Amino acid sequence: MVAVPEVLNQSAAASPVRDAARIDVRHVSHRFALRGAALPVLQDVSFTVEPGEFVALLGPSGCGKSTLLRLVAGLDAPTQGSVHANGAAITGPDPSRVVVFQDPTLYPWRTVRGNVAIGPQAQRRRFARRDAAQEDHARQRIDAALELVGLSEFAEAFPHQLSGGMAQRVALARALVNDPALLVLDEPFGKLDSLTRIRMQGELARLWQDARFSVLLVTHDVEEALLLANRVIVFSERPARVVAEVRNDAPYPRHRDDPKLVALRREVLAQLGLDT
Ligand SMILES: Nc1ncnc2c1ncn2[C@@H]1O[C@H](COP(=O)(O)OP(=O)(O)OP(=O)(O)O)[C@@H](O)[C@H]1O
Ligand SMILES: [Mg+2]
Repeated sequence: MVAVPEVLNQSAAASPVRDAARIDVRHVSHRFALRGAALPVLQDVSFTVEPGEFVALLGPSGCGKSTLLRLVAGLDAPTQGSVHANGAAITGPDPSRVVVFQDPTLYPWRTVRGNVAIGPQAQRRRFARRDAAQEDHARQRIDAALELVGLSEFAEAFPHQLSGGMAQRVALARALVNDPALLVLDEPFGKLDSLTRIRMQGELARLWQDARFSVLLVTHDVEEALLLANRVIVFSERPARVVAEVRNDAPYPRHRDDPKLVALRREVLAQLGLDT
């Protein structure tokens, strides 16, 4: 296993040190218009992500999880209710909230390294600095992120030369170099083979423990949610309502066969309406 590189726990060059974000979702309902009819997708959803907390959202396919993430990311505004970050209403995307989407879109004309470098490059442009020490720091962070996701050898490859799982790992590396205050992950390991998935889950848990940003993770996988999160929020079928919040105090590193996790798994499956 690759150890979490120290450089990834240091703030990105030219940016202030970010504290983990607090997110408040308050009485959020959301509707889409589908062929003239209203499609209710979220129904009175409320929860909080405490600074530094790892929260997993679990629910049936199509219930509204990705929609909720888009609201937290500031890509859409809720039909009703509010979403706040550190007490301020979210009105649009912000570089401190980094999203890894379910289907990662990489720039096809950029190499793997070029795709991971997008955030640091934008940041240098914003601060209009071309300081050699900062350039060097940014390069080290990019190298470290690539190493973490096991893609150092593919740094110069182009997206069409990667598998689906590799593309997903590039998207994760691209998020991690940006020193997030909140990392928003939509099924980030969905396309990975089970061995890589297990490895990446361990890496994410260690990275989060070291860096302590807040995480909001959407997953279908009960075991993954329990392995990673401090709290699992279980949603109903669409329109998504919160049906349960399950706190998980098991210490890290966690083991999937820990009897406490096995017991919580039964509890969560029961909340999802699945008999075990
Ligand atoms: N832009 C849109 N316009 C209309 N309907 C939409 C739009 N985006 C999503 N929906 C609908 O909202 C519902 C919830 O979609 P969403 O992607 O949030 O589900 P999800 O819980 O993430 O599902 P999955 O687990 O399969 O990814 C679906 O019925 C979908 O058809
Ligand atoms: Mg989704």
